[in-house]
Amino acid sequence: MRAIVVVLLAVTSVAVLAKDPYGEDCRYQQYPPTGATFRGSVPDYIINLDLPPRERWVQLAHEKKDELKTIVEHIKKVMIVFFPSGKLLHLLESKMAWLGSTLPYPFNEEIEGIAHAAEVGLGDIVVFNVFYEIFTVCTSIIAEDKAGKLYHARNLDFGLFLGWDIKNSSWIVTQILKPLMVSLDFQRNNKTVFRSANLAGYVGMVSGIRPGIFTLTMNERFSIDGGYIGVFEWIFGKRDGWWMGFLTRSVLENSTSYEEAKDRLTNARLLAPAYFILAGNQSGQGSVITRSRTAALDVWNLNASFGTWYVLETNYDRWKVPLAVDDRRTPAMKCMNRTMQQNVSLPALYNVLSTKPILNKLTVSTTLMEVSEGRIETYLRDCPDPCSPW
Ligand SMILES: *[C@@H]1O[C@H](CO)[C@@H](O)[C@H](O)[C@H]1NC(C)=O
Ligand SMILES: *[C@@H]1O[C@H](CO)[C@@H](O)[C@H](O)[C@H]1NC(C)=O
Ligand SMILES: *[C@@H]1O[C@H](CO)[C@@H](O)[C@H](O)[C@H]1NC(C)=O
Ligand SMILES: *[C@@H]1O[C@H](CO)[C@@H](O)[C@H](O)[C@H]1NC(C)=O
Ligand SMILES: *[C@@H]1O[C@H](CO)[C@@H](O)[C@H](O)[C@H]1NC(C)=O
Ligand SMILES: *[C@@H]1O[C@H](CO)[C@@H](O)[C@H](O)[C@H]1NC(C)=O
Ligand SMILES: *[C@@H]1O[C@H](CO)[C@@H](O)[C@H](O)[C@H]1NC(C)=O
Repeated sequence: MRAIVVVLLAVTSVAVLAKDPYGEDCRYQQYPPTGATFRGSVPDYIINLDLPPRERWVQLAHEKKDELKTIVEHIKKVMIVFFPSGKLLHLLESKMAWLGSTLPYPFNEEIEGIAHAAEVGLGDIVVFNVFYEIFTVCTSIIAEDKAGKLYHARNLDFGLFLGWDIKNSSWIVTQILKPLMVSLDFQRNNKTVFRSANLAGYVGMVSGIRPGIFTLTMNERFSIDGGYIGVFEWIFGKRDGWWMGFLTRSVLENSTSYEEAKDRLTNARLLAPAYFILAGNQSGQGSVITRSRTAALDVWNLNASFGTWYVLETNYDRWKVPLAVDDRRTPAMKCMNRTMQQNVSLPALYNVLSTKPILNKLTVSTTLMEVSEGRIETYLRDCPDPCSPW
């Protein structure tokens, strides 16, 4: 965790020196995805919830084991920079395996199953799950069209500051994560319960849909007060909060209405701050929930009849000015305003999310969701130069 603080400080100082010459005019006609910003589609897998947790991810983990090993090796290389003593790293790994055993059911057993099937150390998969919760920066949008239909889309940006590849002009982690992106269909009794866009190896959720009922995305909220103290408390035995990605998974798996989902996301105790972006299946059911560990600081609702026909979240509280060097919010709002409510559609949201710097060097994928038809589409992205590093 200390490593993360150091990294973030380093970043802030680099960021202050940088300019933002990377913006561009709102993009149009990017959908269906083609061209230099489209890296490819993602494979589909079924996760059978009727199986014991250890067996659910076996096929996926087995097929993605080389890609998982690559990312795990890279995370270790990064950690060696911060913990140069191999002994310490070894100790940390065994601690991480132990941490895995403290995670709640079914996540503990699912992670064990993944480590076994991918032939990777248990501690390494735990590290991957924890890292993933901490290093995700994103843009999420919910919009309502004139007919009251709801659309929800997000860019998943990941790999911040874990190493820059000069030759490819890209973040190393962002590159090696792309082959891990998958589209998942969670089933009970051979029927879809929910679907998600996920990285293989991660058992939490950052983007998902319960067809006909709600759509949900989660964004990182960097907050000094509270920060990751909850994670330390967990390690030292005080385990009364939810890991953020486990809460979203649990909501997608077990909540059966927008109201129930909203209530849980608003009130559950968390280990770290987060933004939850939740949309239902009818007019007005859309909100950005800004969370501290213990409370909802703000719930920003759609209200189309009074002009709020979209809500949008990057990684800043809406009542605060974004970091000048990382302002994806203003360009995203500008492009949404230009789109206008009568033109809202999944392709229109894809256009907004294809505009730099909303699309940037960290962008792994774009996910589009439409609740009433139960549609979820995920596309891998590239951001050719000139392109903002974040
Ligand atoms: C960098 O680019 C080269 C050639 O285009 C490719 O072979 C290599 O895999 C890339 N590295 C990463 C980390 O994507
Ligand atoms: C699901 O479908 C498979 C065949 O397609 C069948 O063998 C299995 O019994 C079904 N499972 C349930 C729980 O209905
Ligand atoms: C969903 O509910 C079922 C039944 O209560 C429970 O077994 C399962 O663990 C829950 N899933 C999650 C992810 O919390
Ligand atoms: C919307 O969700 C509710 C549950 O919150 C469900 O009862 C209803 O059937 C859904 N409506 C549509 C049109 O799917
Ligand atoms: C929508 O906005 C109006 C005017 O500000 C307000 O009176 C109303 O309560 C809002 N509705 C919702 C659902 O927030
Ligand atoms: C977008 O439109 C809203 C509502 O009219 C306005 O408050 C906001 O300042 C606009 N933002 C940008 C970046 O144009
Ligand atoms: C949006 O819709 C309006 C009227 O329906 C149309 O004139 C305009 O060209 C559309 N804009 C875009 C960007 O599609």
